[in-house]
Amino acid sequence: MNVDTLTYAGNARSLSDIEGEFGGDRYFFIQADICDQETIETVMREYQVDTIIHLAAESHVDRSIHAPADFIRTNVCGTFSLLEAARASWRDRSDVHFHHVSTDEVYGSLDAGDYFFEKTPYDPRSPYSSSKAASDHLVRAYFHTYGLPVTISNCSNNYGPYQFPDKLIPLMIHNMLTEKPLPVYGDGKHVRDWLFVKDHVAALWIILKFGQTGESYNIGGKSEVENIRLVELLCTILASELGRNDDCYKQRITYVKDRPGHDRRYAINCDKIEKELGWKRKVPLEPGLRQTVRWYLDNLAWIEQINSGEYKEWLVKNYEDRG
Ligand code: DAU
Repeated sequence: MNVDTLTYAGNARSLSDIEGEFGGDRYFFIQADICDQETIETVMREYQVDTIIHLAAESHVDRSIHAPADFIRTNVCGTFSLLEAARASWRDRSDVHFHHVSTDEVYGSLDAGDYFFEKTPYDPRSPYSSSKAASDHLVRAYFHTYGLPVTISNCSNNYGPYQFPDKLIPLMIHNMLTEKPLPVYGDGKHVRDWLFVKDHVAALWIILKFGQTGESYNIGGKSEVENIRLVELLCTILASELGRNDDCYKQRITYVKDRPGHDRRYAINCDKIEKELGWKRKVPLEPGLRQTVRWYLDNLAWIEQINSGEYKEWLVKNYEDRG
């Protein structure tokens, strides 16, 4: 049962392969907003839902700087509404599970050599990460106060097929393919830890099966890299896929004004999920990037469709704002 309100980053076309494989009796899609508690409760009742994986969120940091209200509404109020729907539907059942998917950004920014652990104090810096921190606190509160069986995961930067091109990797691939500048914020030395989407999904599945109620698990890609190095690597991979010299892409790298409050470095310690639940990241950065680049090359129509919509207008406005 997939519940999605399909905002600007949602795309029904991204679901067609699942629809084709499992649609009819094993996969159902409902277009609904998590803030609409009544509809969520109806869906839970009709489909006898006993497990929720809560991935619904406004997730792009730049957007949270321009339009923070959407983030409070969906991430904070939406999570609250979903928790209330679960509490009302499940009452005191213990054979149910509410898993909340969150971010490493709740922990703030790191100096070189440090890592985020599950016990690292929360220190969010952007409207986005603050809204996710608030939602994590609500989920924990429902565990302690009402005994709702919850788990939480905090992951690093995801990448892979179907990612909406406001995030760094698909944005760069898209700009390379359309011969646009490659905008690198600030000095380009900010560090992110990249997690291939399938490794993330495998971790969520393991938490659903073996996670301890009330616990949080960090999920990271063990692939820390400075933004500028990542962009250069993408130039090299795309050039090799297309049989070109990577200079044609690298020369388009453009340093632009930094993101306000830009966190310098994220790096995850994921010993807990590895040791306690047996999860391991399988896809290292370079093969993961190559798979991703190939997917975008094979799905140019998907990108084209996205660019014809609301996002294009937002992108133009965003660049106007930055001068
Ligand atoms: O760490 C997990 C988080 O990763 C998730 O919780 C967020 O939902 C997700 O958006 C992501 O946050 P980031 O802000 O790290 O991702 P983004 O792809 O926007 O940017 C990655 C890095 O690249 C960041 O340091 C900013 C930089 N950047 C981004 C864009 C879009 C650029 O230099 N140029 C760009 O055009």
